[in-house]
Amino acid sequence: MAKSNLEQDILKVLVTEEEVAKRVNELGEELFDKFADKNPMFVGVLKGCFIFMADLVRATQIQSELEFIGLSSYQSGTASSGVVEITRDLQKDITGRHIIVVEDILDSGNTLSFLKKLLEAKGAASVTIVTLLDKPSRREKAITADYVGFVVPDEFVVGYGLDYDQKYRNMPYIGVLKPEVYSK
Ligand code: IMP
Ligand code: MG
Repeated sequence: MAKSNLEQDILKVLVTEEEVAKRVNELGEELFDKFADKNPMFVGVLKGCFIFMADLVRATQIQSELEFIGLSSYQSGTASSGVVEITRDLQKDITGRHIIVVEDILDSGNTLSFLKKLLEAKGAASVTIVTLLDKPSRREKAITADYVGFVVPDEFVVGYGLDYDQKYRNMPYIGVLKPEVYSK
């Protein structure tokens, strides 16, 4: 293991690096079976998706393209404001394309319900949602993911792309942050 000065802020490990890798490979196999002949476009939601997306597309060895969209629903802190803004739009036309949305966590559902409508309005042939984590207890919008890596309890989690205040994204596993870190 590499040296870390991030671990001191972690209360507990929720999903280990090995568990994540195994699950991402399973998801890749399921996506292969569904999309092998569809030339899908993976659309990653920045920035939280970046590590999951990198591993997921390598676990899904099919003809496909990648795009990223920047969305923000957080002013700051650990709760959704409910208002979603586009901070970076797609760079390609998606008319008639089969879209695989790649998200780090489905929490209130505000971000993904906004994105799903946006992609449909832009003319996607289909929208399939893959989320690494699902926190169903906090849902405000009626939205479900088609593929879920892990269901997590109502705790603030970081690592493997997920941040608190832009930090901890580079931790290799998913952990619960010590509450004193964000209540400071
Ligand atoms: P939603 O719009 O409330 O579903 O939230 C989606 C976004 O909130 C995710 O893409 C994350 O960036 C962020 N988020 C929600 N819960 C957590 C968490 O526990 N840790 C880190 N980020 C989170
Ligand atoms: Mg985030």
